[in-house]
Amino acid sequence: MVSVTIVANPYKLLAALLIVTVLHCFVALRSEAQRLPDEEVRTLRQISEKLNNTYWKKLSPDSCTKKDLNRNFDSPTMLSNVTCNCSFNQSTVCHVTNIQLKSLNLTGVLPEEFGDLPYLTEIDLVLNYINGSIPVSWARIPLVTISLLGNRISGSIPEALGNIETLEELILEDNQLGGKLPPKLGNLSRLRRL
Ligand SMILES: *[C@@H]1O[C@H](CO)[C@@H](O)[C@H](O)[C@H]1NC(C)=O
Ligand SMILES: *[C@@H]1O[C@H](CO)[C@@H](O)[C@H](O)[C@H]1NC(C)=O
Ligand SMILES: *[C@@H]1O[C@H](CO)[C@@H](O)[C@H](O)[C@H]1NC(C)=O
Ligand SMILES: *[C@@H]1O[C@H](CO)[C@@H](O)[C@H](O)[C@H]1NC(C)=O
Ligand SMILES: *[C@@H]1O[C@H](CO)[C@@H](O)[C@H](O)[C@H]1NC(C)=O
Ligand SMILES: *[C@@H]1O[C@H](CO)[C@@H](O)[C@H](O)[C@H]1NC(C)=O
Ligand SMILES: *[C@@H]1O[C@H](CO)[C@@H](O)[C@H](O)[C@H]1NC(C)=O
Repeated sequence: MVSVTIVANPYKLLAALLIVTVLHCFVALRSEAQRLPDEEVRTLRQISEKLNNTYWKKLSPDSCTKKDLNRNFDSPTMLSNVTCNCSFNQSTVCHVTNIQLKSLNLTGVLPEEFGDLPYLTEIDLVLNYINGSIPVSWARIPLVTISLLGNRISGSIPEALGNIETLEELILEDNQLGGKLPPKLGNLSRLRRL
């Protein structure tokens, strides 16, 4: 019925095309409008370089909506997963909230730049070959989960981690950490797993 009407009336066909085009633009604008701030894109690029990460090649301000930093593999233990919250500034601004890079054979040094992502709640880098020590800069962001299981992290656990009041999970096993457990961790009232 519908197609017959459209073919029979060229004006209706034009109108239909116009509506489709307008809708298409609207959808495009909407997703275009949800962008990561340039500082966060720059920070993600620095993190990626430090970890010799080849899975974030398409990184851009639109990476949250395009999900082009996410990658699944045959094995569910291997994963690149970056999650954002795009409801800031009337749903025009995204901020990175979760980063999971699991079993990706990442090398390099644990990036202090995670501390420059002000809305980041999760750093999960399990089962890679990352070295370096845990940066004090991480203490300035509202982390809920830190998981570094199965890497080559050395040095001691910084006392500053005891200031991350939001912290619920601190998973550090199978690394080369040394030193004493800072007593200040006892002040983390939400800590469930250590
Ligand atoms: C980075 O990764 C590439 C390819 O996976 C590898 O050839 C290179 O040696 C790595 N560089 C470092 C510094 O680990
Ligand atoms: C990616 O991370 C988010 C936030 O932690 C989580 O809800 C989601 O299930 C993850 N996606 C995959 C494929 O694991
Ligand atoms: C995203 O951020 C907004 C504003 O801070 C907050 O209200 C909302 O709960 C967040 N959404 C999620 C899924 O965390
Ligand atoms: C979002 O809004 C905040 C507070 O009004 C402002 O400081 C910030 O610059 C805005 N961000 C962007 C990317 O427009
Ligand atoms: C990591 O390296 C191992 C051994 O070389 C390989 O089997 C595996 O597929 C690699 N993982 C990724 C995500 O490239
Ligand atoms: C950490 O790993 C990088 C590359 O994988 C290497 O160049 C560097 O020497 C290592 N640093 C330490 C302290 O082991
Ligand atoms: C733990 O917090 C309490 C009150 O916030 C403070 O008095 C105490 O000094 C803190 N302990 C450590 C080891 O930082």
